[in-house]
Amino acid sequence: MTESTIEIQLTNASKAKEGFGDDYSAHLPEPTKTRFAKYGIDISKGYPERPSKIPIFLDEAYMIRDAKDPNFVLRGIDADPDKKALFAKAQEVNNLTKHIGTEIVGLQLSDLNEQELDELALLVSERIVVFFRNQDLSPQTQLEIGEFFGTVEKNPVAAQVPGYPGITTIWGKFLRQKRVPNFKKVFGIWHTDLDFEFRATSFSHLHLDTIPLQNGAGGDTAWVSGYAAFDKLSTPLQKFLEGKYAIHRSNQRLFDRDDILSGPKHVERDHPIVITHPITGWKALFVNRSNTTKIMGLEPAESQMILNYLFDVLEKNLDIQVRFNWTVPQQDRMLGASAIWDNRVCNHYAIADYDDQQDQRHGTRVVSLSDPLVYIEGSKSQREALGLD
Ligand SMILES: [Fe+2]
Repeated sequence: MTESTIEIQLTNASKAKEGFGDDYSAHLPEPTKTRFAKYGIDISKGYPERPSKIPIFLDEAYMIRDAKDPNFVLRGIDADPDKKALFAKAQEVNNLTKHIGTEIVGLQLSDLNEQELDELALLVSERIVVFFRNQDLSPQTQLEIGEFFGTVEKNPVAAQVPGYPGITTIWGKFLRQKRVPNFKKVFGIWHTDLDFEFRATSFSHLHLDTIPLQNGAGGDTAWVSGYAAFDKLSTPLQKFLEGKYAIHRSNQRLFDRDDILSGPKHVERDHPIVITHPITGWKALFVNRSNTTKIMGLEPAESQMILNYLFDVLEKNLDIQVRFNWTVPQQDRMLGASAIWDNRVCNHYAIADYDDQQDQRHGTRVVSLSDPLVYIEGSKSQREALGLD
C-alpha cells in the first residue's frame, strides 16, 4: 500500500484580501474624498486598506484580542457630574428621549480639551449615545479622541483608513459589494460592536462624512438602553440573571490549528448577562441577538427561550430607544455628523432603507476598549439609583 499526502492551503476564512487587494478608491464619494484630501489621508495606493497579514488560526485571533493595556485610564469616573465645562461650550444640549440619546449643538468635537472629553465620557455613560452634527472632523482627531477614551481597537481583519489601523471604514458600497438589500427581507440586526473582545468595547465613535441624501433621508441608526431594558424585567427574573454569564461570538471565523478539517470556528467569549457599569455604577442587560448564543449552565432550550425573551425586551420597547437621522447641512455637505455611544449599555441597529450601491453612506469608526465587563453584587439599577421607582 502506498502512502499519499493531501496538501491543504489555507487562507483566512472570510476570504478578505490583504492590504490594498480590494481597491474601491474609484468609487469614493466626493465629500469623503474632500475630507481625506484636506487632512492628508493618502489613497494613492488604494482604499480602503486591510491589514497586511489577516489571521487564519483561532489562537492568533485570541492572542491579538487578549492583549492588555497597562496604561489604560478609566475616563469619566472623576468628571464633574454637571459637566459644566462641556455644556458651557455648547449652544444647546437636547435630550432626544427620556431614557436615551442627547444631541449637543454648536460645538466642534475637535475643540474639546481633556477635561471636556472626560465630561463627555460621563455623559455618554449616562445617556448612552450622544450626537454632534455639522462636524469638521479629521480622521486623525477622531482617533485621538478614541485614544483618550481607552485603548483603540486595532481590527486584524477590517477595512481601514490607509495608514491608520485604528480607524475602520464603514461603507455599505464596499462592505456589501454585490449584495444589494432585498426590500422584502429584514436586512439588519440589533447588535453590540465587537463583544467577542476579552476587554469591554466601551465607546464607539461613528463619524459619517457622506450621508444618503435621496429625499433627504435614509440610513438612520437606532439604539436601545441596556439600563432601561434591565429595569423592564421583573425582580425575580433580574435576580435569576444576576451573576450568570452568556457566550458572545464573533462574525469572523478562523481555523483551529489542531482540528483544521472541522472547519472555521467563531471567537467566543463569556460576559456577565447583567453588568455593572464602571462609571455610573448602574446595572445593565448585556445581550444582543446578533452575537449572544447561550446562557452558560442552562440547557440549550432553556437558554434560547430566555435569550429570545431578553432580545424582545430590547427590540420591542420603543420607549427605551432612540433613532438618529444623520443629516448634513444643505449649504455645506463637507461637514459630517458623529455619534458616540457606550457599547456596554446598549444594542444598536443600522437601518438599511437605502440602496448603498446608489446612495453613498461612508463613515469612519473608532472603537475604544476598557476593562473587562463585571457584575458587582449589590449594585443598583438606573431607576433605583435615580429614585424613579
Ligand atoms: Fe455596529
